[in-house]
Amino acid sequence: VIAIDGPAGAGKSTVARALARRLGLRYLDTGAMYRALALKAARAGLGPEDGAEAGRLGECSRITIGEGDPPRVLIDGEDVSEAVRTSEIGELASELSAHAAVRRALAGRQREIVARGGCVLEGRDTTTVIAPHATLKVFLTASLTERARRRTLELEAKGLPADPEEVRRQIARRDERDSMREDSPLTVADGAFLLDSDGLTAAEVVERIVARLTGR
Ligand code: C5P
Repeated sequence: VIAIDGPAGAGKSTVARALARRLGLRYLDTGAMYRALALKAARAGLGPEDGAEAGRLGECSRITIGEGDPPRVLIDGEDVSEAVRTSEIGELASELSAHAAVRRALAGRQREIVARGGCVLEGRDTTTVIAPHATLKVFLTASLTERARRRTLELEAKGLPADPEEVRRQIARRDERDSMREDSPLTVADGAFLLDSDGLTAAEVVERIVARLTGR
């Protein structure tokens, strides 16, 4: 089990996916589960303050992450892979994920997946709460400027409108919210391998993680 944690836009998904492919492991994007639940909550008319209701919604929803590459995200059998990638849903996911009821609803399922072993999981709290005993815990980070640049490119590549300044503000806000929340804040786990990806390509980041794993 390899867990990758870190702030928004550090490249966790790209790196985790490439690493899973490289090592022949499964890949679990925990953020996609928060996004799927946020989408369902938005459709139900819930807002960022409705943590208890969103938690209940999560308890009775079937959220599945497929095995493909990129993995499909399904909620109650509906493929929402694209719908969960908008900035609005990312923002609501971040706000709702601060509520303990929402985290409880998803953490159990994430732990079940991890208990089967052989996986690379990524997301905020994966190294501290979901898989603190992972074989390797990585805290992947990058400067705010670089993270905003990558997230803007990512949105543009998906044909979604992105204003670089707004993306930067959003990421800074999300960092603050994720770091300040009481339940599972963004922190560097004990024993985590701290990796700054500024100036590194995704492939180089993957190589550093593999080197760390194999002790080269
Ligand atoms: O990683 P991604 O941007 O898809 O995640 C959306 C939001 O869900 C994050 O901003 C974070 O607040 C929340 N999240 C979380 N714990 C995780 C994964 C994501 O709180 N394990």
